[in-house]
Amino acid sequence: MADIDTTREYVNKVYRYMKHNMSVETFMEKLHYNRNELNALMELCRIYGKDISMEVEDGTLVFKRKTVKKNLIQKPSRNAEELNHNEICVVSDTHFGNIHQQLHLLNEIYEEAYKRGIKTVLHIGDVVDGNYPNRPESPRQQFLHGFDEQAGYVVDMYPEINGMTTYYILGSHDETHYKNGQATVNSWISRVRKDLVYLGQDTGEFSFDGVKVLLDHPGGGSSKSVSYNPQQRIEKLESHNKPKILLIGHYHKSYTFLYRNVQCVLTPALCDITQFQTKKGLSNALGGYFLDVYSDKKGHIQYFEAEEMAFDHRDVWDEAGKDMKKVRKLEIKDSIY
Ligand SMILES: [Fe+2]
Ligand SMILES: [Fe+2]
Repeated sequence: MADIDTTREYVNKVYRYMKHNMSVETFMEKLHYNRNELNALMELCRIYGKDISMEVEDGTLVFKRKTVKKNLIQKPSRNAEELNHNEICVVSDTHFGNIHQQLHLLNEIYEEAYKRGIKTVLHIGDVVDGNYPNRPESPRQQFLHGFDEQAGYVVDMYPEINGMTTYYILGSHDETHYKNGQATVNSWISRVRKDLVYLGQDTGEFSFDGVKVLLDHPGGGSSKSVSYNPQQRIEKLESHNKPKILLIGHYHKSYTFLYRNVQCVLTPALCDITQFQTKKGLSNALGGYFLDVYSDKKGHIQYFEAEEMAFDHRDVWDEAGKDMKKVRKLEIKDSIY
């Protein structure tokens, strides 16, 4: 009989195929499920906390995933074939070297991106956990100490998929290595890993088909209202120079909104709640985002959808040392189609 971990892994795997609005019949055909097996799977999904249901839509039975967050400006006004279409994956705050890191969840997101044929991932900072000499508890909260161990771990363990490039900024935790010894994480990572491209410390710009994207890792404290700091940030953007999309890391929160015509995505973390956050009473959201963007020739967004791939405490490996000892590097050599 399958143990709980194996069953959970099985449910997680199959759940990834159960796309929002996908026809149930198509799913059953593809994965060779009969009706009884599907009922059993839906029951398992319920037990393992997957927010999925089946609804009849236009005469077809389809899956409905409640974790899908849609942020629609308007449906593409012209034929979608005239528009540029891009899909991008967004991750943040991996905090490699912290004992609460969740590399296996980052790997799950990269696997999903690979299955979707996504070639671009953006990482919004705090790649590594950093070095805090003034926090006496810090050494016991880390399994990798200092610059060499943490930067080396990224080089060795960060997911590597042929044809996929990760563009990243560095955040407040990464910067501690510079403050302590003028060591820059990016210069080592990007020298060795050509698929990891550095965009800047705290902030960086990226664009596709004329759509400007700003990556931001603000640093500083959090606020009770999730949207307060990002709104303040958007208000400070000059109107002639605003990005179309603003991606924010650092807060370990998940939220999307549209403000001043800027699509803002607060990107959750891929590290479980740390002792520091618990002491400060801060919450910690886990997951990543898939952005689906249609834009016109001038780089104006015609359609924007931010789909969250959320994890919760049942997905976390909190058994001491499991993630740091057992996770292998995700490496896929087959090129993305
Ligand atoms: Fe962080
Ligand atoms: Fe940070």
